[in-house]
Amino acid sequence: MTAASSRTPTGWVNPLLDSRDKRLPRIAGPCGVVIFGVTGDLSRKKLMPAIYDLANRGLLPPGFALVGFSRRDWADENFAELVHDAVRKYARTPFREDVWARLSEGVRFVPGSFDDDASFDDLASVIAELDQERGTGGNHAFYLAIPPATFPVVLKQLARTGLAARNDDQWRRVVIEKPFGHDLHSARELNEIVNDVFPEESVFRIDHYLGKETVQNILALRFANQLYEPIWNSNYVDHVQITMAEDIGLAGRAGYYDGIGAARDVIQNHLLQLLALTAMEEPLSFSPGSLRGEKIKVLSAVKLAEPLDETTARGQYTAGWQGGTKVVGVLEEKGFHPDSTTETFAAITLHVDTRRWAGVPFFLRTGKRLGRRVTEIAVVFKRAPHLPFEATMTEELGQNALVIRIQPDEGVTIRFGSKVPGTAMEVRDVTMDFRYGTAFTESSPEAYERLLLDVLLGEPSLFPVNAEVELSWAILDPVLEHWAKHGRPEPYPAGTWGPPSADRMIAAAGRKWRRP
Ligand code: BG6
Repeated sequence: MTAASSRTPTGWVNPLLDSRDKRLPRIAGPCGVVIFGVTGDLSRKKLMPAIYDLANRGLLPPGFALVGFSRRDWADENFAELVHDAVRKYARTPFREDVWARLSEGVRFVPGSFDDDASFDDLASVIAELDQERGTGGNHAFYLAIPPATFPVVLKQLARTGLAARNDDQWRRVVIEKPFGHDLHSARELNEIVNDVFPEESVFRIDHYLGKETVQNILALRFANQLYEPIWNSNYVDHVQITMAEDIGLAGRAGYYDGIGAARDVIQNHLLQLLALTAMEEPLSFSPGSLRGEKIKVLSAVKLAEPLDETTARGQYTAGWQGGTKVVGVLEEKGFHPDSTTETFAAITLHVDTRRWAGVPFFLRTGKRLGRRVTEIAVVFKRAPHLPFEATMTEELGQNALVIRIQPDEGVTIRFGSKVPGTAMEVRDVTMDFRYGTAFTESSPEAYERLLLDVLLGEPSLFPVNAEVELSWAILDPVLEHWAKHGRPEPYPAGTWGPPSADRMIAAAGRKWRRP
């Protein structure tokens, strides 16, 4: 069977029927990308560099087109200049004039506002011209790098102009950035609006954590090996800690962050996806359907530990020191309301009600201005049922742990006890490390490179579907409601590891946070 015969009408290749050699690079067919929100940080720091990096790696089609849409009174050249500057500053791969020259030939700009019909008619004409001039073949992805409040009007315009519709053998896709709503109710409303215009298989919701190599490696680690799976359950695992700590503050995003907070910004999406990959059952295959099916199953089994007063914690950073620099507290940050109750640190305790995980708590925490930047999943094992040593010999022995280091020092660590050299039988913790940087010569692509390419290839595995988004809100909503009714977040000084209530939360469960 050839690859072509396994291609569905939406362009997705069923991996079960696909006989292509998976080691060969996947190159996008004729297509273009339209970005709404081209002057934002996301576009300049992530999307434009990722497009260039893909072009540099030879993974974009020769006639690739990039269209920017924004209120600026710009010509194509002005937009090309913006893209050029963004690429020079933020691209991962070296700048090559010939690659840029080829890419810039396909750069177009359409000035206009989202409520202006004429601008969207212009966009439709530009796209039709590109199909003729560049051979983009009617295949276009619309990237909404814009505030969610503006999604409905843009989607309406895409429907009105016929841009959302495709002929046979063409595709039209929409890419949406989080936040997907601010609670279950609003997420459902948003999903309805999106699905009114684009069928679910044409909707690509970005959770950029799923584009990270180390996150994809969770599946390889678990399901390509015999070593871990037999002990990956409540017989051996004591608890799981998932941490995403950032040392930065709001980084100029106070307007976005105030009213959203750490739980909505990170736990609802990135951390619950990490939990799903850590806790899910083995999928039948890596087809999108099987993978999502397992993630949906495990997210459906997730329950909040209660009472929420004791099993959750939230905080706001106050002034302090970060990397030798004095920094202000969040309430003093420009653009953040001085009375805001938005949390910059959030921790919750979950259970996964399945046979595999019964009785194993999952502790999730995230925050800004913490001790250092680190994201990791620590699977902490039970102590050996019997230790044939005297207590003094094992004083410094902790619990075995397997730590998946998502970033920045990508790799995996196993912690176990080992005899201290000498005449006495003293046992102490040691670690065994796998590091991406030393084990592989290839450098990892940026998450957005991988995800953008998958959009263009129509490969949906790494994009959460409706059901995953809604289940994640259903898990978080009671916590958000509880917090809204009960006081303010607890202060913690910048540069520390969060508020004391986070330590009390895990201590009440008889465990302790790792200090990564
Ligand atoms: C984003 C959040 O999704 O992830 C940001 O909105 C956060 O607040 C960012 O800073 C962190 O991403 P990364 O890839 O640097 O861990």
